[in-house]
Amino acid sequence: MKNLSKNFYITSPIYYVNDSPHIGHAYTSIACDILARLKRLQGFDTRFLTGTDEHGQKVQRSAEKLNKTPQEFCDLISKNFFALTELLNLTNDDFIRTTEARHQKSVVKFWKKLEERGFIYLSVYEGWYAVRDEAFYAQDELIDGKAPTGADVEWHKEESYFFKLSAFQDQLLKFYEQNPDFIEPESRRNEVISFVRGGKEYQQGALQDLSISRTSFNWGIKVPDENAKTKHVIYVWLDALVNYLSALDYADDAALYQKFWADENAFPIHIVGKDILRFHAVYWPAFLMAADLPLPKKIFAHGWWTNQGQKISKSLGNVIDPKTEINWIAESFTWPPSGAPQGFNAAKTVVDYFRYFLFREVAFGSDGNYSRPNLVQRINAELVNNIGNLCQRTLSMIFKNGEIVDVSGYQAGSELLKKCEELIADALIKINDLQFEAGIQNIISCASSCNLFLEQNAPWNLKKLGKVTEMNLVLTTVANALKMIALVLQPVVPHLSLSMLDLLQLKEVRADQLFTRLSAGHKIAEPKVIFPKLA
Ligand code: MSP
Repeated sequence: MKNLSKNFYITSPIYYVNDSPHIGHAYTSIACDILARLKRLQGFDTRFLTGTDEHGQKVQRSAEKLNKTPQEFCDLISKNFFALTELLNLTNDDFIRTTEARHQKSVVKFWKKLEERGFIYLSVYEGWYAVRDEAFYAQDELIDGKAPTGADVEWHKEESYFFKLSAFQDQLLKFYEQNPDFIEPESRRNEVISFVRGGKEYQQGALQDLSISRTSFNWGIKVPDENAKTKHVIYVWLDALVNYLSALDYADDAALYQKFWADENAFPIHIVGKDILRFHAVYWPAFLMAADLPLPKKIFAHGWWTNQGQKISKSLGNVIDPKTEINWIAESFTWPPSGAPQGFNAAKTVVDYFRYFLFREVAFGSDGNYSRPNLVQRINAELVNNIGNLCQRTLSMIFKNGEIVDVSGYQAGSELLKKCEELIADALIKINDLQFEAGIQNIISCASSCNLFLEQNAPWNLKKLGKVTEMNLVLTTVANALKMIALVLQPVVPHLSLSMLDLLQLKEVRADQLFTRLSAGHKIAEPKVIFPKLA
C-alpha cells in the first residue's frame, strides 16, 4: 500500500430536483460508493459527498407546474434522492442541498473572492439558453435550431454579470498538459482540450467569457451586490459547482475543508457523466484558478446507459427507474431461494446484484445498454454459478468433513494461489483506477481458475479414497482464494462479500490482509446460500 497520507474526497454530481431518480443518478452514485469503500478498505481517510442541485429556472418551472413554491418542491423531491442513497446502500458521509444556509454562505464568499480579484464584470448577455441543460450556447453550436444535446433553446437578452473565462485559456491548457491524469478517460480529455483551444468543432476561436447571473427569474442565490440596477441571481452552475467546497464548510475555512481540499494530501475526485464534463473540467478549474484555490485532482467522465439501444428520455417514456429494476430482480428469485437461510437478506442481495451488473456489463467511461435478460444471464453465470458454487461446495466440505490446514508446502495449491494473487492485485489496481469492469473480470477469472482446480483435484473423490490430508490441502487452497475474492469484491457488492467473509469467520479484514493465509485450525461457519439464482 502506498500514499497512506492521501485524503480522498469523492463526489458525485448533485442532482437536479426537477426529476425523479433514474439509472443515471444511481450509476454515478454507486461508482462513487465503490471507490469510497475501496479507499476506506485500504485505510485512507475518505469522504464521499452527494446531494441535490435545487436552484435555477428548470426547478422553478417544475415547481410552478405543480403549484408549489420552489422550496416546498425542493424539499419534496430532494427526499427521493436521499432515499436513493439508502436504497443503494451508499456510504456517503454527507448529503448537500444547495438551498441550505451553509451552501449559500460559501457561494457568496466564493463570488466575492472572484469579484475582489477582478474576474467579474457587468454587461449584457444576448444569446441562446437551454433551460433543460441550464447552459448557454453560441449560435454556431446549435444543430437544427436546438442545443447540441437536443434541448430546446430560448433567446435571451438581459443584463448579466460575466466571468472572465477568456483570461484562463492558456492557464487551463498548461494545467491539462502538466496534469495528464486530470481528465479521464483520455478520449474525453482530448475533447476538453480541443474545446478550450477553440478547435474547429466549436469555431469560437478562444474561450468566451461566461454569463454568471440571471435576472429573468429569481429562484437562486442573490448576487451580493446592492448597487446593481436589477436583481440578479447567481447562474445555477456556478452555484452548483461550489457545493464541493460548501459541504466542507469552506465558508468557515473549517478543518474539513483543509483536510479534503486545501491540504497537499487532499485528493478531491469528481465523478460525473460525460454530458457535464465541460462544466467540471473547464469552468470549475477556471473559477478555482480565479479564486486562487487549489484544483481537484481528477475528473472522471463516465458514459451513458441506453434502453434497448435507445437514448433514455422522459419524452420517449423509456426512463429506467432503479427502484423498479431492483424490485424486478427481487421478483426473479425462485422464492424462497432454495437453501437460503432464515434471515436471508433479500433486499440487500438484490441491490448488490443490480450494483454488480451496472459495473460489470460495460467499461466505466463507455456507453452501455441496459437489458434485463443480460442482467439475469450475468448474475447467474458469474455470481451464482461461478463464485456462489465455488463458495458453497468448498466451504460445505470443509465444514462437514474437513478442516483448514497449513498449505505452505503444497505445490499445486501454491501455483493456483500465486495466479489468484496476481489477478487480485491487478484487480485492485484497476478498481482504484476506476476500471471497474476490467477489475471484476480478473476476479471472475480467479474464481474460474479455482473451480477448474476443484474439478481437477476432485476433493470429493479424495474423501472417498480416504485421502483426507490431500483433500484438506485442496479445499484450504480454495478457501484462501475465496477470502481474496470476497475482500476485493467488497466495494462492489458489500452485502454479498460480507456474507462470504462471515462464512469464513473473518471480521473487519482490511485490504492489507488480502494475501495473508488462513491459519491452520481456523474455524468456519456453517455454509448457507448467499447467491440465489435468478429465474
Ligand atoms: N445538477 C447537475 C450537476 C451539477 S454538479 C455540480 C446535473 N444534474 S442531473 O440530475 O441532470 O444529472 C446528473 C447525472 O446523471 C450526470 O452525471 C449525468 O451524466 C447522469 N446521467 C443522466 N442520464 C444518464 C444516463 N442515461 N446514463 C448514465 N448517466 C446519466 O447535471
